[in-house]
Amino acid sequence: MVESDLTVFGPTSVGWDPATLPNEVVDEDGTPRRIEGFGEPDPRVPARRRRDDPGVVALREHLKANNGIRGLEICTPDEVERAARIYRRDGFVVVRDALDEEHLALFREGCARRLKEILSHPGCDGRKYMAETGRLPHRYCYGTSSASRQMMHDPAWTAMIDLPTTTPILTEIFATDDYLVWGGGGDLSLPGAIEYQHLHTDGVDSQPMGADAEARLSCFRRQGLDIDPNKAFAELDFRTQRLVMDRTTTGVTINFTLTDLTWENGPIREIPGTQTSTQPPPVPAEEPEWMRLSTLVGAPAGSAIFRDVRTWHGATPNLSREVRALPSVEYSAGWRSGTGFQKTMPHDMWQTLSPHAQHICRFIKQAPGVWPYGAGVMHPLTSGRRAAYEREAGVNGEVTSVHTDPRSAGTAIRLFNRDHDGGF
Ligand SMILES: [Fe+2]
Repeated sequence: MVESDLTVFGPTSVGWDPATLPNEVVDEDGTPRRIEGFGEPDPRVPARRRRDDPGVVALREHLKANNGIRGLEICTPDEVERAARIYRRDGFVVVRDALDEEHLALFREGCARRLKEILSHPGCDGRKYMAETGRLPHRYCYGTSSASRQMMHDPAWTAMIDLPTTTPILTEIFATDDYLVWGGGGDLSLPGAIEYQHLHTDGVDSQPMGADAEARLSCFRRQGLDIDPNKAFAELDFRTQRLVMDRTTTGVTINFTLTDLTWENGPIREIPGTQTSTQPPPVPAEEPEWMRLSTLVGAPAGSAIFRDVRTWHGATPNLSREVRALPSVEYSAGWRSGTGFQKTMPHDMWQTLSPHAQHICRFIKQAPGVWPYGAGVMHPLTSGRRAAYEREAGVNGEVTSVHTDPRSAGTAIRLFNRDHDGGF
């Protein structure tokens, strides 16, 4: 039974379930397990999931005194060039007032409604909720909890694709308005998510070849950077090739804040400059304290956090009484051909979008009269999502399950839906 006062902003009695043990994860079928390789445990987690646990009290005091990037720069939507400059330097940028009152209310309502569905599955042996497969307790993701893998069937998400506050900044970052939408979802933590999620990237950049490499070089040139106009990517020296890669992001995720991010409600942590790093982030046991404190405290509700998908990031403990949801829209560079894009947006919904949004969503739009497989089913377990997708797709699709290198994803198990009649 989900608490009736569930909201995604302000106090709620959701969360703080002491029956859910620290670092516990559930498998595909919802059985709690605490074994190596099934998720990344937080080696410094407090002993109990209770507000009065001495370890939680000590962590609260530590975070109150220290949490957050010192001097975090926050842009306004009209500071387009400044926002892009900070984004390219750090691998992320916070832009306040991205959502007006109407959009903020729409997103809050949609996120609360979908969270209710996720939490409607009770946990085992007296636990309040079923956890999400392969993710630390009290943490969920709207995208991976959807049986279609994305939230592009929900108007609360699709209304955020093309905003007057975000589109100019995306256009500046990609150096063109011809970028693409990949999907949308976003991570959330309930109050009492006392563990740090491991640092990871959402996309590993690989050496570009052929047309991809030339497309990235064109994007680099459009940024006005000084480079020999007659050379192809393969003819550039190593440092310049690397600079081209650094400056041409493969994907941008925008996470929207529905609450002020505070020292206690689980602000996302971002490690500046790591969008250009080719080495993996440190494992939890070796993560230095300064990285654990490198969080976006101070981003007010209604902000857009533009994140290079390559930048090291992770979720942090939510020791407050409010849900911290960061719903997202995920964009990718326009040189991608659409291969691998899953058709998760209903045709009827696509038709209601702006001309620009229709253009950038063309690869994720399902055919007229076909409902995207799995869309509308929210389930914390991979077994439940797989069943929903396969039931709707029938012979037109299949699901594969992959155990992921934890450094390259936020969850230990990922499902890949493959529509045979489109998308993949
Ligand atoms: Fe992530």
